[in-house]
Amino acid sequence: MEAVAPPTRTLLDFLRDERGLTGTKEGCNEGDCGACTVMVTDEQGSRALNACILFLPQLEGKAVRTVEGIAGPNGTLHPVQEAMIARHGSQCGFCTPGFIMSMAVAHLNGETDFDDRLAGNLCRCTGYAPIIRAAEDAAEAPVPEWMTADAGAIATAPDIAGIEGAARPRTSDELAEWYLDHPDGTLIAGATDVGLWVTKDFRDLGDVAFISGCHDMQGICEEGDRLIIGATTTMSALWDRLAEPFPSYAELIRRYGSVQVRNAATIGGSIANGSPIGDNAPALIALGATLRLRCGDERREIALEDFFIEYGKQDRAPGEFVEAITIPSQAPALRCYKISKRFDQDITAVLGCFNLTIEGGIVREARIAFGGMAGIPKRARAVEAAITGKPLDAPVLANAQAAMAEDFTPLSDMRASADYRLAAARNLLARHVAEMRGEDVNVLEVRA
Ligand SMILES: Cc1cc2nc3c(=O)[nH]c(=O)nc-3n(C[C@H](O)[C@H](O)[C@H](O)COP(=O)(O)OP(=O)(O)OC[C@H]3O[C@@H](n4cnc5c(N)ncnc54)[C@H](O)[C@@H]3O)c2cc1C
Ligand code: FES
Ligand code: FES
Repeated sequence: MEAVAPPTRTLLDFLRDERGLTGTKEGCNEGDCGACTVMVTDEQGSRALNACILFLPQLEGKAVRTVEGIAGPNGTLHPVQEAMIARHGSQCGFCTPGFIMSMAVAHLNGETDFDDRLAGNLCRCTGYAPIIRAAEDAAEAPVPEWMTADAGAIATAPDIAGIEGAARPRTSDELAEWYLDHPDGTLIAGATDVGLWVTKDFRDLGDVAFISGCHDMQGICEEGDRLIIGATTTMSALWDRLAEPFPSYAELIRRYGSVQVRNAATIGGSIANGSPIGDNAPALIALGATLRLRCGDERREIALEDFFIEYGKQDRAPGEFVEAITIPSQAPALRCYKISKRFDQDITAVLGCFNLTIEGGIVREARIAFGGMAGIPKRARAVEAAITGKPLDAPVLANAQAAMAEDFTPLSDMRASADYRLAAARNLLARHVAEMRGEDVNVLEVRA
């Protein structure tokens, strides 16, 4: 058994303070910079995660490889290390261990979409071109045998059974029982929100339950014309499954945090947190998603839009948790448009999601939802009413754009002013109409 640690001890602190593995760096301590990237391996494969917002109990049964374990046993450099030297990919070097880890995981998994793979690693002095060139060079080299011969530089599987206040339910039944007994306890799924409560707010979480091990709440299954998404499904798994039926939603997920964040963050956590600027809820509301909530043995199914009551308040009773989300298996009309200051890994200022059924040029059904426009993710009912039963011509569009002010009174904050948000939301409606007419609207596609 590992030295007993509080259940909210982060892997980063454990590595640096208890193991002396200081190659893993602390930059932001909130999941943003990737300086603390490590490789975590289990039976599902190897993935990059941010050690700064990863609690030790989340690693039960998994192996961790740090940057100290990337070169071979006799000191032979890994191909990504060789390439970073050859391409001058490091200046001050503070970010470099994190980049090396992300590159090594991508190399191991044969992933070559480096703009995505490295979007969660920030470098302030070298610039990304040499780093991307190094990743491209290394991609040609075979995976060194030491990367697969042993599981990791250290095997971190802390036994938390003896740690007071930490539960680790294996099934939703066990979770339901624990939560009834501990209605004031904190559920921890991917910890991409909860991690910051500890590292930034220094909160004592009291009783906690780590729920990612509830195997019957993981993954996505198809039942008839519906997809049932378990609450602890990660954003990476969701991206993989939704790429084909919902390419626009999948593109939204591509910009959701970073690889490291998506490998940890769960869909259930992103809904339960009630965030008005979370990226899943508007897309799911536009899809007509329902939420399965469970308290003890009682289950109830509600429309997702009804879950969000007002800022900070959701329709969830003490001891009740999100078990699954149900969506249609097809919705070819769904389009999602995210506005943020930075393209990758940035918090949404405005997110508009549209799912219109148009027959004979007339809008028969409309589901439109926005994030960033109110204290909750919210349907644009007045806009929907302004277009339903009508053709999407210029006068109807103008009316619908005006109706946006009936639906939303957005706030000003550091991400956007209220005026900007309202104007952007109106423009997103126009953009969607233009896209349905076959015009290029994606900033990556439009040419002057
Ligand atoms: C660097 C960074 C970038 C990010 N980028 C984005 C982004 O681009 N878009 C975006 O939308 N979000 C983003 N986030 C926010 C975050 O990733 C999401 O909110 C995430 O999906 C939360 O899921 P989790 O599993 O990590 O939740 P946790 O942190 O484990 O939990 C969040 C909350 O939900 C509760 N909870 C978790 N699971 C359940 C459940 N099944 N039932 C009831 N309650 C539950 C927890 O108790 C807690 O209150 C980012 C976060 C970070 C750190
Ligand atoms: S220290 Fe910045 S992501 Fe962990
Ligand atoms: S080399 Fe200095 S931050 Fe990247």
